[in-house]
Amino acid sequence: MDTKPVLITYATRFGSTQEVAEKIAASLGEAGFVVDVKPIQEVQGLDGYAAVILGAALYNAHWHPDAHQFLTQHKTDLMQRPVAIFSLGPISAGSAAMKNSRRQLDEDLEKYPWLKPVAMEMFAGKYDPTKPGMGFFYRLLPTRDYRNWTTIAAWASALPALLTHAEILRHA
Ligand SMILES: Cc1cc2nc3c(=O)[nH]c(=O)nc-3n(C[C@H](O)[C@H](O)[C@H](O)COP(=O)(O)O)c2cc1C
Repeated sequence: MDTKPVLITYATRFGSTQEVAEKIAASLGEAGFVVDVKPIQEVQGLDGYAAVILGAALYNAHWHPDAHQFLTQHKTDLMQRPVAIFSLGPISAGSAAMKNSRRQLDEDLEKYPWLKPVAMEMFAGKYDPTKPGMGFFYRLLPTRDYRNWTTIAAWASALPALLTHAEILRHA
């Protein structure tokens, strides 16, 4: 991997995806990568980035609309560098919920056949009814944080090899 920074960008409504993005950024930083962590709306372009890590939360069976807009807007640039994808979804520790969220993501990304991520992962999410903007019924539910930081750290620690390998293949 060259010395250009890796962009880690995220689409979030309530902040839990941002915290995961920051955890991944810290891990890549420890591995010697230069990283730039940005909310997705602040990304102007991908020039100068060696690779992109894109994270977004699922809402009502679809990836955050800003993530879709990002994929459409930056298609050409994304095709020219390694891309890794993560999503936050299930508010449950169960494997059925995880499978369901993964299916939602897979179906949602089918419309981008050009997208060939070097890694793609679904993480359990966080539900916080105290956040402003939660609907009335949602506010009746308890706070639940199912994010597994060990799982997230393990995925992040595998990224340097995957990104570097993809970059080597690109120049072979
Ligand atoms: C109103 C609402 C709808 C949701 N819909 C889905 C869904 O369809 N599939 C899923 O896997 N997760 C769903 N989730 C869970 C979110 O993806 C999860 O809470 C995530 O951590 C939110 O990320 P954020 O804090 O970055 O916005 C939903 C959460 C809320 C509050």
